[in-house]
Amino acid sequence: MDFIDLKTQYQRLREPVNARIQNVLDHGQYVLGAEVVELEQRLADYVGVAHCVSASSGTDTLLIALMAYGIGRGDEVITSPFTFIATGEMIVLAGATPVYVDIDPRTYNMDPALIESAITPRTKAIMPVSLYGQCADMEAIGAIARRHGIPVIEDGAQSFGAEYHGRRSCGLSEVGSTSFFPSKPLGAYGDGGALFTNDEALAKLMREIRVHGQDRRYNHPRLGINGRLDTLQAAVLLAKLDIFAEEVQARARIGARYGELITEAFARESDPARRVGVPYLAPGRTSVYAQYTVELDERSKVEQGMKARGIPTAVHYPVPLHLQPVFAATGRGVGSFPVAEAASARVMSLPMHPYLSEAQQTQVVQALYESVCA
Ligand SMILES: Cc1ncc(COP(=O)(O)O)c(C=O)c1O
Repeated sequence: MDFIDLKTQYQRLREPVNARIQNVLDHGQYVLGAEVVELEQRLADYVGVAHCVSASSGTDTLLIALMAYGIGRGDEVITSPFTFIATGEMIVLAGATPVYVDIDPRTYNMDPALIESAITPRTKAIMPVSLYGQCADMEAIGAIARRHGIPVIEDGAQSFGAEYHGRRSCGLSEVGSTSFFPSKPLGAYGDGGALFTNDEALAKLMREIRVHGQDRRYNHPRLGINGRLDTLQAAVLLAKLDIFAEEVQARARIGARYGELITEAFARESDPARRVGVPYLAPGRTSVYAQYTVELDERSKVEQGMKARGIPTAVHYPVPLHLQPVFAATGRGVGSFPVAEAASARVMSLPMHPYLSEAQQTQVVQALYESVCA
């Protein structure tokens, strides 16, 4: 069994993907070709914002957004410690300091109640992460940010396609950033990412930063990076976008069924050590389950049990950012963010993709039950 099955999706999309790629090979515009423009328009429409700026990855998008706001040395950006390294990494790379606030134990996303006390005169942005495929509490975070006159940059690398009170991830704040890494809900066949905004001036700036800060050919009023999305990746994404809404529905159905199967399997277990926590969806939110992540005791025992039963698992993420060796100098020690630290010791992700069959799901949950109770 695959943790994420990209082969079945390719079998389904073989013809349109191949045709789209062939078209690029025929016209030869490998950098910023027509497919990039077409993709940006379709993605902006999908998210419901005026502008989409595609980019080379969901890491570079974060850096581009920070650079567009002029965030650098001496500045602070509030974010979650429970995320993939890129979130904190790009804040530091921009020259700023990440200021972490702990997470809500049910959604694993930044707890808005803790943000206000982390704001200082140096705070230049809030960067919530919409982890595992469910949006952070963007309304509450946005209200705090507005009170302090600072922008919110959503790291929606895992939540593209998720809804928050009827609106889509990446369109819920000043800037939304996502990733098209192959295993993401909308994945390319290599690296890719995109930025979303309704602010025309900001979109122009991000577009320029994406190409070495260039406003016209070989004129560079500011620093930028080489952060473009390849035309070939745009072509792949256009083909995949045609079935994306259907895949998002499949993800929701499979996620809900996992929840039912796991709850049912453990319903008769009274031993608290044999409890498995399933994802919680906050009111008004959907998840695209970039990861289907459960919480349990004795994780290494369960991981071994799953492996022995042929079921791949992963841990997203075993070490919160403030405890990563690279951030040791700027970070805070053990005990600083207890909810994130507890989660990182207890979470485990199960195989998840839109083509997971009911039989495979049953097999995963059976293996989970046996591994927990072993
Ligand atoms: C929360 C989060 N932020 C940022 C990234 C970076 O995206 P990419 O791998 O496209 O650079 C990822 C994905 O790996 C992610 O999960």
